[in-house]
Amino acid sequence: MSAFRAAPAGVFELQRSSSFRAPAPSKYQNEEAQGEARREARREGSDYGGEEEDEEEEVDESVREDMTKLEDTFPGISERFRLINRIGEGTFSTVYKAEDVLYDHYQNEWDVFARAQQQEAWPGPPAKRRRMDSPSAGGPKVPRYVALKKIYVTSSPIRIQNELELLHDLRGCKSVCPLITAFRYQDQVVAVLPYFPHSDFRIQYRTFMVADMRHYLRSLMTALQSVHEHDILHRDIKPTNFLYNPDLKEGVLVDFGLAENQGAEYTSQCLCAHQTYVRRSRILSSYYSKNPPSLGLSNGYPKNDSRPSRRANRAGTRGFRAPEVLFKCTSQTTKIDMWSVGVILLTLLGRRFPFFNSADDIDAMIEMSSIFGTRRMKTAAAMHGQIFETNIPTIGEKGYSWEKLVKWSSCVEDLTESEQQATRLLAGLMELDPSKRLSAEEALQHEFFVDPIHHDVEWGGNPESGDSGEEEDAGDDEADEVAML
Ligand SMILES: Nc1ncnc2c1ncn2[C@@H]1O[C@H](COP(=O)(O)OP(=O)(O)OP(=O)(O)O)[C@@H](O)[C@H]1O
Ligand SMILES: [Mg+2]
Repeated sequence: MSAFRAAPAGVFELQRSSSFRAPAPSKYQNEEAQGEARREARREGSDYGGEEEDEEEEVDESVREDMTKLEDTFPGISERFRLINRIGEGTFSTVYKAEDVLYDHYQNEWDVFARAQQQEAWPGPPAKRRRMDSPSAGGPKVPRYVALKKIYVTSSPIRIQNELELLHDLRGCKSVCPLITAFRYQDQVVAVLPYFPHSDFRIQYRTFMVADMRHYLRSLMTALQSVHEHDILHRDIKPTNFLYNPDLKEGVLVDFGLAENQGAEYTSQCLCAHQTYVRRSRILSSYYSKNPPSLGLSNGYPKNDSRPSRRANRAGTRGFRAPEVLFKCTSQTTKIDMWSVGVILLTLLGRRFPFFNSADDIDAMIEMSSIFGTRRMKTAAAMHGQIFETNIPTIGEKGYSWEKLVKWSSCVEDLTESEQQATRLLAGLMELDPSKRLSAEEALQHEFFVDPIHHDVEWGGNPESGDSGEEEDAGDDEADEVAML
């Protein structure tokens, strides 16, 4: 990775996106002493009484120990950062909030908060105590926070490199959390990102009015528009990877751990990537078309199937995977992210989180077919050269309309006009056929954003009650006869 430069003692660093201004040696020594004092104070369970003692977060004993361990095992980290708390523990990393104690030694072009403050557009996060010795601001010093993402050593080096490189490529993209720098010591890698104050989606989502949903989605789609323009699939769009700040009405997209360049994983071209006439002839000449179940052959798996098993990338989070991912499409596109945005909108409108709660991909398909009905699922499967069959009696042929589903899920009798408008956007995002699904750019041009209906009422539904959700005929307009092609 060209941006890395080798450094002595087994430590190397991704150069800061901005140029480094070397600190005066005496200042450095001072920082080292402060780092040691902070570590010592944490070991003893007391607060460090140094000048950075401005953040008084409640910290669990186990978290303190964990932070001390990181400081002890990662040389130099405590001279640069004052660890404050653990803010995230994911599958692939632990994330800490920290103060960037060497902030003033660097140019910090990434710091949108500082820029906003300079322009007085945003007052900044409330600081309990400000340092008075700022050399650059000429006024009281505001602590600068960063998020330190310690990537687990079990992640493959290629994966880690991929995440850092993609973040580097996406620097400057609006609503995408920039990478400030990264450090490695032996097998440990720490990525440094600006700390973005955000709300907890699980607490926020039920109180969201449609206007809030609009701000949330506009910011998320803006991020995705840039990501997709770079031909990058995020692959893991979900609320915990989009840090939304309701006061700013802005969010940032994080976690590019599963992201990839579109096409990087293509092994063989999926049927969906072929012209319609090719698709048609392939399907018509298939064994299934020549021996349809209506001829009396029983459904099931072929005995001694000699065909090689199909392999496709299915990375992502359950409940947010697009249908083509479940159907093992080998030509997945940026549209998989748009499906996941649809799931978030469905969660917001339906006031249920998580909306889909499947244990595995088969369960996920059952959930999907309960909504779309078997007819549309068969068509979607055929697009990717797959057969969809089910004998589950509760799965109907026609499925439900989105409006019906949102009403049922949120336990309301009628949707407001703005909810109806949002539901029309939902239909464009949760489209089974990726080629018909809205792109981020198209979605931002949807009436929901460009011609919004402001008819918002607070949601007063009770998610525990409501009708039984018995299957109804969705009507001809919602479940047209769907041809396999
Ligand atoms: N820049 C940031 N500012 C504030 N909080 C952050 C930041 N980056 C990450 N976090 C917090 O840490 C959590 C985990 O971060 P991230 O998604 O990057 O790690 P992960 O290990 O890939 O997580 P998961 O496996 O849960 O997706 C986020 O959900 C968020 O709460
Ligand atoms: Mg994550």
